[in-house]
Amino acid sequence: MKTFNAEEVAKHTSPDSCWVVLYGHVYDVTDFLSSHPGGSKPEAKLGKIDPQTLANPAKPAAKEEKKDEVDPPLESLLNLDEIEELATKKMSRRAWAYYYSSADDTWSKSNNNLVYRNIILRPRVFVDCTACDSSTALIGTKVGLPLFVAPAAMARLGHPDGEQGIARAASKFGALQIISNNASMTPEQIVSDAKPGQMFGWQLYVQNDRAKSEAMLVRINKMADKFKLICLTLDAPVPGKRELDEKSSFINAAPVAAATKTGDESSRPGGGGVGQQLFWGTAADLTWKATLPWLAKHTDLPIVLKGIQTHEDAYLAAQYAPQVKAIILSNHGGRALDTAPPAIHTLLEIRKYCPEVLNKIEVWVDGGIKRGTDIVKALCLGAKAVGIGRAALFGLGAGGQAGVERVFEILKAEMETCMKLLGAKDISALGPQHINARMVERDIYDGAAGLDKMGLWTKSKL
Ligand SMILES: Cc1cc2nc3c(=O)[nH]c(=O)nc-3n(C[C@H](O)[C@H](O)[C@H](O)COP(=O)(O)O)c2cc1C
Repeated sequence: MKTFNAEEVAKHTSPDSCWVVLYGHVYDVTDFLSSHPGGSKPEAKLGKIDPQTLANPAKPAAKEEKKDEVDPPLESLLNLDEIEELATKKMSRRAWAYYYSSADDTWSKSNNNLVYRNIILRPRVFVDCTACDSSTALIGTKVGLPLFVAPAAMARLGHPDGEQGIARAASKFGALQIISNNASMTPEQIVSDAKPGQMFGWQLYVQNDRAKSEAMLVRINKMADKFKLICLTLDAPVPGKRELDEKSSFINAAPVAAATKTGDESSRPGGGGVGQQLFWGTAADLTWKATLPWLAKHTDLPIVLKGIQTHEDAYLAAQYAPQVKAIILSNHGGRALDTAPPAIHTLLEIRKYCPEVLNKIEVWVDGGIKRGTDIVKALCLGAKAVGIGRAALFGLGAGGQAGVERVFEILKAEMETCMKLLGAKDISALGPQHINARMVERDIYDGAAGLDKMGLWTKSKL
């Protein structure tokens, strides 16, 4: 695929030749100008943009140039794109590249978001919706809203408030925060001033050296008044190929991930970006048969399996209830396997092939959330909760704890406006009748269920 520099693209701004850059790809949209711009015509795609050649956001101004700039007040930022834009200006190039990056050609990252644009809402009228209650309960714990912070490593790369800043912001909204195995602060620090009843989860990347993971579980078990779940991430047994992140390690050779290196490790392989460095030591040999019984020996906390991407695996996970209480449909924000499906595809697959899973365990989703309407659409399809990864990190980058609060504020307000306009007073009133997902259904997996052939079809048990 050809790579263009920004200067070449900038020459095509007239009605005779008009190019646009979307998610790192260059498209020729000249033919669409006089007609409907919808649809992604593959033939219009010309190649990739070289991010190094772009002005903001792909190439933020150097720190020195930025110091006289006054940040806009956070309340003047009205949506998540504006928050990301400010964070992009303020963060170091390397931190930004780590947060922003995704695997290969970034298809999964782009489609995580685009899929929501292709679901149409069906508002009902003459419903009294003066009041709107967006609170809910997740695996038995009450939360202020169905929006949670997905585990994301190295929050202090974005702002010194780090994961604790996210925790303080989440507490104002009663939101669940799942803390990454590769957090830049200790779990004890992060939850140290949690409010009573505030809900946390601990995300686990099982280590090759199992003793390290077991020792961490001992620490988390001791804080079971705050940690209500262990989230086992399964979609990245090996790290994805994140070229933007990898490239950035050539800009500044300082080993960002050194903070997470334990004393007994003398060296890690260099290069490969922050993501690859953090991955060092993570086990790739997890299995249904061995790992869940191992976990049961080391914690009584409910297990949430993260990174489920097919209905078969959702069905299997449901068989491990009640140890497994929820699954998160996720493609890791497009950072692991590129062209893996958006969570909404997997959710639709579950509805089609094994809807009973939705009654047996909770199904949560993450990836691509930019608007309150995105959250509501996932809830309408049966998701109990919806996670944000980058949005929380970019909130931090834009304004520390206050920036994350602004992200919550925007999403909560958008979500409640959407519910009122749909005619839904509370979360339980939302259902598939409120959406038309036909455009997306067209693209979901259409093969055999596979459950019987794999010996998985034990419908009567569910
Ligand atoms: C910078 C960054 C670091 C991440 N680190 C982790 C991690 O340590 N563990 C994990 O399970 N998922 C991790 N994720 C994936 C998120 O939990 C989540 O699945 C993803 O960000 C959701 O997509 P979104 O960023 O579009 O909201 C990370 C994501 C980002 C952007």
